[in-house]
Amino acid sequence: MSLSQLARSISESPTLKLNETAARLREKGEPVIHLGGGEPKTKAPIDAILNCTALLNTAEVRYSPADGIPALKKAIIRYTDEHYGRLVMPENVIASSGAKQSIMVALHTILDPKDEVIFPAPYWVSYPEMVKIAGGVPVAVTALDGGFQPTVQEIADAMGSYTKAIVLNSPNNPSGAVYAKDFIAEIVQLCEKRNIWLIMDDTYNRLIFDGQAPVNCYDFTGQDVENSKLIVINCVSKMYAMTGFRLGWTVASRELVRAMTNIQSQETSGPATPSQWAAVGALNGIQSSIDSLRMTLENNRNVMVARLRAIPGVQVTKPSGTFYCFPDFSAYEKSSQKLAAFLLEKVRVVAVPGKEFGMEGRLRVSYCGTIKEIREGLERIQWALDPNSANELFIGGRKLVRDWA
Ligand SMILES: Cc1ncc(COP(=O)(O)O)c(C=O)c1O
Repeated sequence: MSLSQLARSISESPTLKLNETAARLREKGEPVIHLGGGEPKTKAPIDAILNCTALLNTAEVRYSPADGIPALKKAIIRYTDEHYGRLVMPENVIASSGAKQSIMVALHTILDPKDEVIFPAPYWVSYPEMVKIAGGVPVAVTALDGGFQPTVQEIADAMGSYTKAIVLNSPNNPSGAVYAKDFIAEIVQLCEKRNIWLIMDDTYNRLIFDGQAPVNCYDFTGQDVENSKLIVINCVSKMYAMTGFRLGWTVASRELVRAMTNIQSQETSGPATPSQWAAVGALNGIQSSIDSLRMTLENNRNVMVARLRAIPGVQVTKPSGTFYCFPDFSAYEKSSQKLAAFLLEKVRVVAVPGKEFGMEGRLRVSYCGTIKEIREGLERIQWALDPNSANELFIGGRKLVRDWA
């Protein structure tokens, strides 16, 4: 078969692959605990469901404008005003099929072949592949101190004449880190000084703990949206627990949004209209679901961090947002892929290897499931790794005996 060079260079999303593996094992009756997940288990807001079913009940589900229906744009404008303090115009907004498509279309719109896109490591697994799909070159910047946030100088040092954009994702998948306000402020200013694009992936923007407020990138620019190279991306996927609706959006200058709309109109047309109406419901409706999701996740995070800290040798930084934790297991195994495969084989726990996020020796473990899953999953992990634990463990009515060192 003669596949394109591009097809041959792009790897499968490791997180989606793990979801499939977990589902396949569960179908076979295996007692899998999935700590690799990337979606809240709560229900979508009722206003989203009512709006969506109202459209479906008409049995008239048509194409939408390529950049989204006016009612959704209106809801996004209101959301942007409330959460970012910017009153934008409908021409500054484009809705897409998930934040993934928003980022992809933005990259297609700004990159020429060989242009470089910088992002801090650890990074969301899809950034390097998306940049490559758009013809660009991904440049990950790892903090010299081994932490989750490089310095502005480290980012500046990675910049060159081909640098076209920086992508920041805070709160961050996979670390759960919330980048410092000063860091974001200085990156906004650095991008303005060098005249490059800054993509703010705000997918987890309001899933932030310990009473902190989300950082608003617009606070650090003197430019209005029209003259700015800030591209702000959001979605209903995580904050409203609506991953399956596939609805994200971008706020940027008219010129960029017009060009993105042209590309999207040729690639996919506008997002599915039932999903757009569901997003209108979520954005305009009662917002209490976000608060209750955040409180549940904060509690889950506390349970997970305490449980992880009880495993000898595991290093944990407490996440400040998202529903991911990124502990260091290198005291047990330096290769995160080997470790993840071992845990799946021996104790049927799914975790995502840190290598996929650009940091070895770590695993991404999610706390978007139940407390029971978190406790049991981590108990199994400790049993598999800690040579001082009991020799036997019962999972799903099955007795496991440790036959490894
Ligand atoms: C950092 C980040 N950005 C974007 C996305 C994609 O979101 P969506 O499901 O809306 O496409 C994800 C999903 O996991 C993510 O973690």
